[in-house]
Amino acid sequence: MFGAPGRRAVEARLRGLREELAVDFCIVNGENAADGRGITAKLAERILAAGADVITLGNWVWGQAGFAPYLSGSDRVIRPANLSPATPGRGLTIHDGVAVINLLGTMTLNPFESPFVTADRLVEEALRETPVVIVDFHAEATSEKIALAYHLDGRVTAVLGTHTHVQTNDARVLKGGTAAVTDAGMTGPHDSVIGSIPEGAIRRFTTGLPVRLEPADGDVRIEGVLIECGADGRATSCELVRVPVG
Ligand SMILES: [Fe+2]
Repeated sequence: MFGAPGRRAVEARLRGLREELAVDFCIVNGENAADGRGITAKLAERILAAGADVITLGNWVWGQAGFAPYLSGSDRVIRPANLSPATPGRGLTIHDGVAVINLLGTMTLNPFESPFVTADRLVEEALRETPVVIVDFHAEATSEKIALAYHLDGRVTAVLGTHTHVQTNDARVLKGGTAAVTDAGMTGPHDSVIGSIPEGAIRRFTTGLPVRLEPADGDVRIEGVLIECGADGRATSCELVRVPVG
């Protein structure tokens, strides 16, 4: 979910979509909620009030000053689990019988621990409580996201990629019963360079200067992935969701 346009779309449409698609549980990646750079306590509360059950984060987890105390006190907003254990917050939560794990990829994002190592440990911990385990893998590299899905196939319900903002056409259920998609897409402005006004992004690439990126607002869509699973936690379907808004 990207910026104010993404949040407005979630606030206007998420409740209705949940009903229409008979959704039992909804996870929103909120790390770009505050104009693309992190999230605040107030924004997190608004997303939860709009119908998200759990909010995951990513590389922008510390993008907004003063967010750490809220993160420490929440069991519905989680950060990547493979950051240093000395940082606030948690990377696994179990809410309404669904375990959600948030992980950060290695390429360009430099996590504290390998996501594969952290995943092995946390999946085991989650499976002691519930068979339904969803992983939000916030990562840059397609290969790393697909590799983690295969690594966890048969052990978790889904491995869903986020961070690159462009929905990939590979939603599927792997042989062991794990749903997977390389990138779930972006809820936000699609007339943009992954959420931001193109001119700023182009200036960055043509000058190499640290140009501040501003959020765009055109062609807003809700994007995501819809997973069905059995009581054993195995996925039975995995479909892309793409809904134009306004
Ligand atoms: Fe990200």
